[in-house]
Amino acid sequence: MSEPVLLHTEEGIATLTINRPEVLNALNAELVESLRRHLAILDSDPRARVIILTGAGEKAFIAGADIGAMRDLDPLAARETALLAQEFLNDIERCAKPVIAAVNGYALGGGCELALACDLRVASENASFGQPEINLGIIPGWAGTQRLPRLVGKGRALEMILTGERIDAREAWRIGLVNRVVAPGELMDEARKLALRIAEKSQVAVRLAKEAVINGLEMDERRAGQYEADLFGLCFATRDQKEGMTAFLEKRKAMFQDW
Ligand code: CAA
Repeated sequence: MSEPVLLHTEEGIATLTINRPEVLNALNAELVESLRRHLAILDSDPRARVIILTGAGEKAFIAGADIGAMRDLDPLAARETALLAQEFLNDIERCAKPVIAAVNGYALGGGCELALACDLRVASENASFGQPEINLGIIPGWAGTQRLPRLVGKGRALEMILTGERIDAREAWRIGLVNRVVAPGELMDEARKLALRIAEKSQVAVRLAKEAVINGLEMDERRAGQYEADLFGLCFATRDQKEGMTAFLEKRKAMFQDW
């Protein structure tokens, strides 16, 4: 049997490929567990500075949660699977490393929700996004009702959630759901280039910047500002802050050492 998740690490960039193309990378419990294990290891692996998540095959990033595995669940079991998957998506959001979704095709239901939990989204022109749960008589269960409106606004999120209709990559870019759109053959190169640009920064500053945004969004604005100031102050305890500012003043490239 083939591995459900493939890992490739090169130049500080770890790429996780969801490998179930025969069902368009639909996520079952085994896949979620495997992804979770990989992510936990990468989170504390110094060789991985940025993580890219993508799907195997040319058709789909992830076509959602596995409908076959869901149909006969009782309400409590369904709730439990949703909570477990949400914990995994929270792990992505709280991962110390930036996580980029390279969306190579359908990102539907749980697939769209997983992309939303990533920090950045790069899409190929043939990608499409949607929350089609309403067509199955259910609602999104992996926090799509929460992350989607925060990213694209309440009106657009409700349109996607209530109609279940898909939007293409250009429209996803127009409404801010993805950061950039590229030709299918350029997707992984573009995601890697973006990852490398982040990987060359001070990883302490990258981590604190991510924390300021992710944690700050859960606070009221005033408290979030204070929290940001605390993390800003913390940067001044690092060698990389001294190096970054000295390099600027000496008109040379900074040599960051991640501490
Ligand atoms: N679960 C299980 N199997 C799936 C699947 C899913 N989410 N999506 C696709 N597949 C399977 C199909 O059943 C099919 O398998 P067989 O070859 O054995 O018949 C195979 O993948 C290929 O799919 P299609 O033949 O349907 O391919 P298509 O090109 O005609 O259509 C598609 C592609 C539009 C993505 C269509 O497959 C589709 O609509 N899939 C379901 C999308 C969906 O509803 N996702 C939401 C799931 S619910 C959810 O995610 C809840 C949540 O909030 C977490």
